[in-house]
Amino acid sequence: MLENVGILTGGGPAAGLNAVIYGATKAAHEAGYGVIGIRHGWRGILDGQIMEITPARISGIANKPGTILGTSRTNLTRVKIGKGSKTEDKTQEVPVFMKTHKLCGLIAIGGEDTISVAEILYNQFDLPVVCAPKTIDGDVCGTDRTFGLDTAANWVANAIRGIHEDFASTGYIACVEVMGRKAGWLTLYGGLAGGSHVILIPEKTYVMSEIADQVKKVVDRYGYCILTIAEELKIPALISKIQEGAGPDSFNHAQIALREKGWAKVLAEQLQKSTGVEARPIVLGHAQRGGPPSVLDVIMGLQIGRKAFELIHNGEIGQLVAWVSENPVPVDLKIAGGGKFKPIPPEIYEPLLANLDL
Ligand code: F6P
Repeated sequence: MLENVGILTGGGPAAGLNAVIYGATKAAHEAGYGVIGIRHGWRGILDGQIMEITPARISGIANKPGTILGTSRTNLTRVKIGKGSKTEDKTQEVPVFMKTHKLCGLIAIGGEDTISVAEILYNQFDLPVVCAPKTIDGDVCGTDRTFGLDTAANWVANAIRGIHEDFASTGYIACVEVMGRKAGWLTLYGGLAGGSHVILIPEKTYVMSEIADQVKKVVDRYGYCILTIAEELKIPALISKIQEGAGPDSFNHAQIALREKGWAKVLAEQLQKSTGVEARPIVLGHAQRGGPPSVLDVIMGLQIGRKAFELIHNGEIGQLVAWVSENPVPVDLKIAGGGKFKPIPPEIYEPLLANLDL
């Protein structure tokens, strides 16, 4: 008899991951199932790295950042072989793994990348997978929100609130760089709530001279300026100044955190040159992912986790547990999968940006 549920977490850590693990495990134990944690995302399937998730193991984890399972960016469809660039599709190892560990279902918690692998496993092997939408980037399709974004946005807002008086005292320009890849949710929400004067998001294309004019106006009015900028921007005249570091990850995303020179530095240099005002780059970095989980992310995580288990128990597989109108709701994986991502639509960013205090 297949009596266990498997759980894994993939991609970058985000608040709420442990709450999902807790919610799903609690519900599974109540129903008499065992729970097997797969370590470090999809990689744990290849390495056979597992841990039994017992009631003692989940005690007190729901409000802790990170993930007790560990995570990785392993893409099962393109697993690196040896030291060169050769890759192999290892998806066929998942059905074998599930049989070995008597898994009647697999809960894959992650963003667009983790979800796209789960979708392939469901379509090609008919595997009983259910996903949970995690990411501080907020860019998973088919869900109103992803858990992790709220905590990270609060953390970003507090970091920005914390530098206003410093920059007001020195009269400098701050270029605060925020994670989020090609989506500006974290930059927009955190930047606006933090009281930034200028916000630049990846969804828009900017002209450097216009940014400089805007910053000059802010400095003339307030004596300093705080810009919150996304880690990916479209400022065509400056793109050649961005220096790449390591190559792309296994999902073909640029590893932005490893860049030798990113947008904060490039923009600060440029603004100092064009305004004559001293400018400082501030890269918020991985601390954005580590703040204490917000109430919303914990509550979402617990409900999504429980729902994910219920779907497996009821045989409603191939679903993402989306967050829709404040409820955990199953949506077809094809809506969220296929490598799609959700940028901020103009009808959301335009009115929010109109609130900037210029
Ligand atoms: O996708 C989540 C994310 O936090 C991005 O916002 C960021 O660019 C990336 O992960 C950083 O990845 P890493 O953990 O590999 O440095």
